[in-house]
Amino acid sequence: MAVNSVRQFVPPTGPTVAVYRLADGYFATDDRCTHGEAELSEGDIEGDEIVCPFHLGKFAIRTGEPTAAPCFAALRCHRVTLAEDGNLYLDWPE
Ligand code: FES
Repeated sequence: MAVNSVRQFVPPTGPTVAVYRLADGYFATDDRCTHGEAELSEGDIEGDEIVCPFHLGKFAIRTGEPTAAPCFAALRCHRVTLAEDGNLYLDWPE
């Protein structure tokens, strides 16, 4: 995964997750925007924010907090671990 990129991960159960790679590591949030039906994995990364592709709301990738209207509810974040074997491990969404 390239730095400053986002990918969708679809677990067997639970919500779809957006996995981000920034310069200092990997992060993950729910993929569904809290404002509407958009998938944030289709959005663009600006700095350490993800821009929603529908109405251009923004969220802080590291915390899930909304940073631009019309987004006001935070995203749920998930812990990502990069293992020595190069695989990414994601805490499973409940
Ligand atoms: S659906 Fe994401 S900002 Fe509206």
